[in-house]
Amino acid sequence: MKGVVFVELLSLADSLIGEDAVDDVLNSTKLASGGAFSAVGNYPCRELMALLDALSHHAGTTPENLQTNFGKWIFRRFAETHSTFMEGKTTAFQMLDSIEGEVHVEVRKLYPDAELPTFATRYLSAQSFEMVYLSERPLVDFCQGMIEACIEHFGETAFISRTPLSTAEGSGATFTIRLTTRLVA
Ligand code: HEM
Repeated sequence: MKGVVFVELLSLADSLIGEDAVDDVLNSTKLASGGAFSAVGNYPCRELMALLDALSHHAGTTPENLQTNFGKWIFRRFAETHSTFMEGKTTAFQMLDSIEGEVHVEVRKLYPDAELPTFATRYLSAQSFEMVYLSERPLVDFCQGMIEACIEHFGETAFISRTPLSTAEGSGATFTIRLTTRLVA
């Protein structure tokens, strides 16, 4: 897993529990990397899982909830640092439809050793969209957070339902996203 992901998790954790508590977590969690992450380095995903576990306890939440919040955080960060990927997209569905064939293709060019999931997407109607996420890593809550922040980014609102999925290629979920009409007061 790319170092940029770890750097972002620690920056979210700083904002949640403060730098000193984050240092305590880094010192008390057994990490082969020693906890000094470089944005351009590559680290085992199990270290991310260990950090999510330890940080969530400190933040008084569950690892799953922290994963979702982290997904939201990183989407917002990528929207700033890699805004070119958002150009030309006017809806969340357009954006989500472009991850597999465009965004992650560019990510792989930037980072040839990136470990990426696969997505199969289809429009169910103009208002609803299906995204089948498969990964070798247990990051389905992270993925949901990214989807939620993506919808928010385009000023939309939606119901997201999620059905777990397990195949020979990995596990994940089918996300069904239904746009909702916002009530204007
Ligand atoms: C809503 C849009 C997006 C979704 C749902 C999404 C989903 C994901 C997920 C779930 C992962 C974790 C790896 C896994 O599950 O196996 C991932 C990894 C990653 N994504 Fe995306 N992504 C999105 C947009 C972006 C954008 C805009 C960028 C731009 C830089 C990006 C860059 C990356 C990078 C660098 C990784 C880490 C790869 C690694 O650690 O080796 N993604 N993405």
